[in-house]
Amino acid sequence: MNRRAAHNWNLRTEPGLILRKPPLTMGKVRRESEAIRQLQRRPDDVTLRFVETMAEALDARDPYTAAHSLRVSVNSTAIARMMGLPPEQMEVIRIGAKLHDIGKIGIPDAVLQKPDRLTREEYALIQLHPQIGRKILEKAGRFEDYLPIVELHHEDYDGNGYPYGLKGEEIPIEVRIVHVADVYDAIISDRAYRSAMSDEEVRAMIEEGSGTMFDPAVIEAFLAMAHEQKIPEGAFQSASAMDACH
Ligand SMILES: [Fe+2]
Repeated sequence: MNRRAAHNWNLRTEPGLILRKPPLTMGKVRRESEAIRQLQRRPDDVTLRFVETMAEALDARDPYTAAHSLRVSVNSTAIARMMGLPPEQMEVIRIGAKLHDIGKIGIPDAVLQKPDRLTREEYALIQLHPQIGRKILEKAGRFEDYLPIVELHHEDYDGNGYPYGLKGEEIPIEVRIVHVADVYDAIISDRAYRSAMSDEEVRAMIEEGSGTMFDPAVIEAFLAMAHEQKIPEGAFQSASAMDACH
């Protein structure tokens, strides 16, 4: 019996086989093509690891900013979990946060690490890093899911951020979450604030930004997390410059 005849025979004599292999429905086709599309949107593991390493190397240029991106990633993911976001969205946040400052690769050390007050021109230069980051990842390809976090993480909820002055829900929720974790880490890491402020004072400072810099819903989750002592271990033991506040 050839293969086709055997197949027909099975179908005729064992109808259970048909049940074991359900027909291809439109819903299934749609789900499968969406899964393929998702796969094509994501970088492969080697590319991703390479870019993450680049981001880590960037943090390590200054011992005071070491592991900033990693901490922002850990805290952003914890806020997302507290808000009940689905796992796929949490994963975009986890990786996007690691890459958020990748554009600083295009900013000279002399400006990034300048201990004195920045000139207007230097400040304008630093403010280009979100768009530089977007361009870098666009060239690498397959990073679309993380581009909003990279390009928009300095947008404020009230529209006073940069580069576009987006407002409220114009800013994706993933970005609004990373923004809180980013500024929080900048404050707890800053040389001047670090010795001067207690954890409670830092949290109060973040809370003050609710509705202006930050999405109140994200702040609520952040404070609930802080209240339950769920801010990951070590988050208060860092040292960095005013990195994320630029
Ligand atoms: Fe940044």
